[in-house]
Amino acid sequence: MSTHSEPMTVPKVRGRLRIKPASVITIGKYHVPAIGMGTLPLGTTYAPGGRPDRQSAIELVHRALLLGVRFFDTADTYGSGPKDNHYVETLLTEAIDTYKGGCLIDEVVIATKAGMTRVNDRKDGWRPRNFKDGAALQTAILDSYRALGSRPIKLWWFHHTDGYDTNDPSKFQEACRAVKELVDQGIVENVGLCNCSTSHIDIAMAILPIVAVQNAFSLYERAASQKRFRKGPAAKSNKNEILEYCAKNGIIFCPHGALGGLQTRDGRRNLETDFPMLSEMSVKKNVSPQVLVLAWMLQKYANVLHIFGTRTCDHLHDVLIHVPKVVFTQKELDDITQLSPR
Ligand SMILES: NC(=O)c1ccc[n+]([C@@H]2O[C@H](COP(=O)([O-])OP(=O)(O)OC[C@H]3O[C@@H](n4cnc5c(N)ncnc54)[C@H](OP(=O)(O)O)[C@@H]3O)[C@@H](O)[C@H]2O)c1
Repeated sequence: MSTHSEPMTVPKVRGRLRIKPASVITIGKYHVPAIGMGTLPLGTTYAPGGRPDRQSAIELVHRALLLGVRFFDTADTYGSGPKDNHYVETLLTEAIDTYKGGCLIDEVVIATKAGMTRVNDRKDGWRPRNFKDGAALQTAILDSYRALGSRPIKLWWFHHTDGYDTNDPSKFQEACRAVKELVDQGIVENVGLCNCSTSHIDIAMAILPIVAVQNAFSLYERAASQKRFRKGPAAKSNKNEILEYCAKNGIIFCPHGALGGLQTRDGRRNLETDFPMLSEMSVKKNVSPQVLVLAWMLQKYANVLHIFGTRTCDHLHDVLIHVPKVVFTQKELDDITQLSPR
């Protein structure tokens, strides 16, 4: 098992590619297909298979652009470890600047975040990053701005929103005001919250518009679609009801780890064996279980914008070619909704 950067081939496209476009999601003034790409696997090295070398990763991003991807999710900390901050941000910038396929830079949204730090290059090396004050947070955002080619950040996310206490919201309010200053200056165009509760959304929305939320949601992690038992403001750690709340308030929802996360690469999660019914449906419909899961979310929740992660051209093609073509009956949608891991 290698945990280092590996050359991976991105095969040439032969003939004309016919892709059915995914439905479109609007982020501020941008309109992007609802299947975007997450880029954690292009930066981290700890999961089995490591990460692609930089040139292969750039070619993979070019292929994603060719197949119609216009939304890329990243973070200042996506890299191999503490000494590799901004690795994926600069990789995406280089990929978009060298893309010869004719798409305009104005069409592509790179969404980035700050709020985590790395203490080592292992999977247990992620920590919340506590900013001393609003100015320190602004400095972190400006570092991403430079890594992204000193262009306005089209969507910037709080990476670790649940690090902010919702019972004493003063720190979070200060952070939101600091981000709003950068919005007013045109450095940041749109703002989103990762790993948040509905109370965080309310606190932030009193200061600046929140256009998107990015929380864990998959067949393994269902809190986003589950009811809360207690009424009233949600505790900072409570991630229930987020999907419905976002839908009601016109907020985009990006599920992270929709396919099971990096745990799928070391065998701790496996859609085929964990959900036998999904496997059967995948044989019947002649598409992969991963395609079924992504298509199910898109058809069930109109505000979902996918950010699935991959390092491989095969998986990129699998998702972008097949997900928009899947049609479910209501019963099939309900059957997937009711699944729980074996
Ligand atoms: N805000 C946060 O705190 C947070 C946390 C985690 C992730 N994220 C974001 O969410 C994105 C998605 O999460 P993720 O990348 O961890 O996990 P994921 O989207 O659940 O993907 C998990 C794995 O599935 C594999 N895969 C993808 N397409 C496949 C296909 N068609 N068939 C079979 N396997 C397939 C990929 O491995 P291969 O490389 O082998 O294709 C990938 O590593 C990240 O890239 C990142 O942008 C955010």
